[in-house]
Amino acid sequence: DRSIKIAPSILAADFANFGAECAAVEGQGADWIHVDVMDGHFVPNISFGAATCAAIRPHIKGVMDVHLMISPVDPFLDGFIAAGADVITAHVEAGPHIHRTVQAIRAGGVRAGVALNPGTPAEAVRGLLDEIDLVCVMTVNPGFGGQAFIESQVTKIQQLREMIGDRPVHIEVDGGVDARTAPLVAAAGADVLVAGSAVFRGGTAAAPEVYGENIRRI
Ligand code: DX5
Ligand code: ZN
Repeated sequence: DRSIKIAPSILAADFANFGAECAAVEGQGADWIHVDVMDGHFVPNISFGAATCAAIRPHIKGVMDVHLMISPVDPFLDGFIAAGADVITAHVEAGPHIHRTVQAIRAGGVRAGVALNPGTPAEAVRGLLDEIDLVCVMTVNPGFGGQAFIESQVTKIQQLREMIGDRPVHIEVDGGVDARTAPLVAAAGADVLVAGSAVFRGGTAAAPEVYGENIRRI
């Protein structure tokens, strides 16, 4: 279905309290939980890996959406599959064999996503559209939360929506999504909106009502 889903990124949550943070945003209406994995090599920041994903899994009732900002990808896929990911997204820029990566994700029984950095054209996923479940349009350069939304990417979302046609492929948007930019990307054709700072700002797992207000504002 094409209803808009909100996927809070726990990169903006309390790292010492992931279980409660996931439960808090789910209780406040989050649709998916977005989990940002960074390796300090593909992106200039390190977050956490498969062991953390496995630890978080029992605290998520719905979809665990794992965004891999790592290179290489393939040697680590089995760990994220075993951790219980529902969606695994890899970057086309992470290596020469994105099609092989997508095949390996699906062979593990997990939905496959492909992410595009802001400098990468929509055209880079054309050959994959019949083999994937999601395209993630990065609207910031990956590596950090709280960066400014890159407006030029809205055109890319429109191009992808047209390219995808009636295939069952989600368009996810990641980076700088807030109450101002969410309507722009939704109108362009996005249906999964990742938001870190815009969701977690001002709240805690112990006072989750703020998360609910933030989610409803997006
Ligand atoms: C960026 C991550 C995003 C990030 C979004 O590398 O992939 O998921 O956490 O954070 P905000 O919503 O604060 O831009
Ligand atoms: Zn992300």
